[in-house]
Amino acid sequence: MRYLPVFLDVRDQTCVLIGAGDVAARKLALLRAAGARVHIIAPECEAEIAAQIEGDTVQYTAGEFSPEQLEGCRLVISATDDAEVNAAVAFAARARNIPVNVVDSPEQCSFIVPAIIDRDPITVAVSSAGKSPVLARSIRARIETLLPSSLGKLAEFMGERRAVVQAQLPQVGARRRFWEKLLTGLIPPTLAQGKTQTATELFNQALTEEAASPPQGRVYLIGAGPGEPDLLTFRALQRLQEADVVVYDRLVAPAVVELARRDATRLYVGKCRDAHSVPQEEISQKLVELARQGKVVARLKGGDPFIFGRGGEEIQALAAAGVPFEIVPGITAASGCAAYAGIPLTHRDYAQSVRFITGHTQDGKLSLDWAHLAHGRETLVFYMGLTATTEICAQLQAHGLPADYPAALIEQGTTARQRVITGNLSTLPDLIVGAESPSLLIVGEVTALHAELKWFEGSLDAPTAFKPAAIHRADCATPPIAVAA
Ligand SMILES: C[S@@+](CC[C@H](N)C(=O)[O-])C[C@H]1O[C@@H](n2cnc3c(N)ncnc32)[C@H](O)[C@@H]1O
Repeated sequence: MRYLPVFLDVRDQTCVLIGAGDVAARKLALLRAAGARVHIIAPECEAEIAAQIEGDTVQYTAGEFSPEQLEGCRLVISATDDAEVNAAVAFAARARNIPVNVVDSPEQCSFIVPAIIDRDPITVAVSSAGKSPVLARSIRARIETLLPSSLGKLAEFMGERRAVVQAQLPQVGARRRFWEKLLTGLIPPTLAQGKTQTATELFNQALTEEAASPPQGRVYLIGAGPGEPDLLTFRALQRLQEADVVVYDRLVAPAVVELARRDATRLYVGKCRDAHSVPQEEISQKLVELARQGKVVARLKGGDPFIFGRGGEEIQALAAAGVPFEIVPGITAASGCAAYAGIPLTHRDYAQSVRFITGHTQDGKLSLDWAHLAHGRETLVFYMGLTATTEICAQLQAHGLPADYPAALIEQGTTARQRVITGNLSTLPDLIVGAESPSLLIVGEVTALHAELKWFEGSLDAPTAFKPAAIHRADCATPPIAVAA
């Protein structure tokens, strides 16, 4: 982020505007909307501005800019097409530590003016950090259509009732949930119709009911998908944003964890640099504990929680403890990676079925029914099979599949760093030397279609989607589960 977004209070403060043409007129309107007193300095003044000159609300000084005119002002905007004047204004303002904006000249600005959606008191500001004001304005236009004009009235209504809600619901989480529920209920449309009295009655009733019911914790077991954040389901995003605590592990992309609310506690329970990971029972116990404290917990799992995700075990623990839960399915690695690699998992000509198999070894060994797996015309998808690829390929050949039977490895599938390595049972083990986790092994004739159907290219230069972000490392500085909510 190049600029810090802040909202500046300029009410009844003097702001200096250099220039009095069309652009200056727009800036004048903006400053006046925020309640500023505006001092305009320009040799000549256009009629639109001249009509607004009034006492000390809008003052006009005819003439050239001189630096001492900035003394005591709150901020300055230079809106002239004279480069020399603009430079002099920028220099004089910076020398006096006064925030300065030179229109269309980001390098001379100490602040920039965003594109604004005004639903006072709700204000949405969009900035492109001066790179493309046109793009920022187009985003503003899109947001405009999403925000009803009655939004300001709703914000006032809520603001007037903050104190009473705080008194009735002392717990922060309970208050937040109350307000969230209110936003999806009848009050916003009732207010939009101008029925303030009815909205007030609905509000009083809802608050009384909420204060009478103690907060109930719950757990959302959420499939976070294979890595690309856009592949999260809509429901997953909604539930994630409700959470007070987010519990996640290594295969959840940091960009997905970022989608939680800023104030939500993030609890990492995956492997750290010392390869220590939290035992499953401890994670399940923590979920129960948090829910019993009345917390809304989002338990994020890579892919789908019910496919090699041990989601079943966590849910059993919750069910046994009587903790309410909801399961949000996710796109499993097989679906995500296959789609992004252009490898259909089934195909009328090549594969009538697909199997999801664990390639996880126990004491370095794989115990699978190889005779059943090696019959062809079926796609075999091995999760956690990277280190066992050589053994998998050898066993499938030993049990009847030909050496030239097609196979592929998809590394960091769906992410910007995706790599698809294709070969066959005899060549693939050598081709994948150096491949990194997470990787998915697909064996079957469908993998040969990658050459024809590939549409998505990753790049080894792209940052890995799974690299722990700073927050992960901080969590790992102590035994992960000890990071208390
Ligand atoms: C413990 S399993 C979890 C699977 C997850 N629950 C799912 O539904 O995708 C982890 C394995 O999933 C596979 N995997 C997950 N995400 C992947 C990705 N983006 N690219 C390739 N393989 C992935 C890898 O085989 C990895 O070892």
